[in-house]
Amino acid sequence: MRTIIEPFKIKSVEPIRLTTREQREEYLREAAYNVFLLRAEDVLIDLLTDSGTAAMSAEQWASMMRGDEAYAGSRSWFRFRDAVREIFGFTHILPTHQGRAAERILFSVLCRPGHVVPNNTHFDTTRANIEYLGAEAVDLPIAEGRIPAARHPFKGNLDVERLRELIARVGRERIPLCMITITNNSGGGQPVSLENVRAVSELCRSHGIPLYIDACRFAENAYFIKLREPGQSDRSPLAIAQELFSYADGCTMSAKKDGMANIGGFLATNDARLAQQEQNLLILTEGFPTYGGLAGRDLDAIATGLHEALDEDYLLYRITSTTYLGDHLSRAGVPIIEPPGGHAIYIDAAAFFPQIPPLELPGEALVVELYREAGIRAVEIGTVMFGRRDATTGVETPAAMELVRLAIPRRVYTQSHIDYVVEATLNVWERRAAVTGFRFDEQAPVLRHFTAKFQPV
Ligand code: F0G
Repeated sequence: MRTIIEPFKIKSVEPIRLTTREQREEYLREAAYNVFLLRAEDVLIDLLTDSGTAAMSAEQWASMMRGDEAYAGSRSWFRFRDAVREIFGFTHILPTHQGRAAERILFSVLCRPGHVVPNNTHFDTTRANIEYLGAEAVDLPIAEGRIPAARHPFKGNLDVERLRELIARVGRERIPLCMITITNNSGGGQPVSLENVRAVSELCRSHGIPLYIDACRFAENAYFIKLREPGQSDRSPLAIAQELFSYADGCTMSAKKDGMANIGGFLATNDARLAQQEQNLLILTEGFPTYGGLAGRDLDAIATGLHEALDEDYLLYRITSTTYLGDHLSRAGVPIIEPPGGHAIYIDAAAFFPQIPPLELPGEALVVELYREAGIRAVEIGTVMFGRRDATTGVETPAAMELVRLAIPRRVYTQSHIDYVVEATLNVWERRAAVTGFRFDEQAPVLRHFTAKFQPV
């Protein structure tokens, strides 16, 4: 078999700058060891996120030029609405400036204190928006989903039995909606099967609980279904996505992922009454319902990008390049979440640094080492992001897993960039025994990972 190549050539380039180790030490100190506080120009390979970091295509730039900036009823809105309707199938579509705005509006309308919202695994903003309203966010991944080394083709699946137990335990009236995140970002970028969405949908419908899909990486998820689910190999990713969304009552979407755009998102629902309430909130903070906080040109870039994300040549390259990074690390012994996910590789930092206890933040230590070693920026998804600090006692409970995510921006880096990341990670791996941990110096009460300050232990 031949090498699977990037199915594009480069028209416009953006220089990246090498720094010295001394410079990086200084930048780390200035940033209080929080890589969110670094200047992006001091980062060589930026794997902080795959969100809003995609390279747009020539067609998307052409779409931007067609952008219609009319305040109400612009042509861009209709192109956006039609693209979303074709793929997602929902009747009411509300554009938002990004995914979390859709979450905030949806939860504000549906959630009250005492409510419980299940999901395979809530993303940090999803959880935070639910908790902000006094409701409880519950993660129900299948058992394999909690074990980094366990291999399962659909490790992102929601545990249907645990959902059934939850409904029986807390009662249907306390569950205003159920969610499924595709792919399951916080659980390793792992896909969810069509069969699982169907089963969750049947259970929810039998109790009258609406099912919403957190659809950020729907195209990657559809491609995994094509590759791995029996009977799906001859179908297009579009047809698979359409079927998947047909089992849901609505979705939240960050177009900064599989919308291939740098900004944007939407909220969709089939419920007219809900849509009316959501629209009122949308107007209050996002904008008129035909632009929702976006420029017309952004809506056009998304309309084009959503279809590009479903292109099979692109998806083959996308999934293959992520697997390439994962396989090269795991073959050398680096503990990662297996099998490699769609948009990112997740290193198990607790297994990487067994000498660093969870409360000394092994993920944070690895993030710092990757930057120190080679100017690579990754993100901690462990106790810094998901640990819990009791506000009165100050006692810290660690997260279930200590992960470091290497997220791959769409169409941005080439194979040699990824080879560089592999080499640098293996250099840290060789000297892992000498690495020590961190502790918090300062932290905010919610979403603390963005602004926290750290000190080496
Ligand atoms: N849901 C999931 C599964 C996400 O991964 C994200 C964002 C959101 C919702 C929120 O969307 O950023 O447009 O407001 N994830 C980014 C990441 C930030 O790095 O994984 P947003």
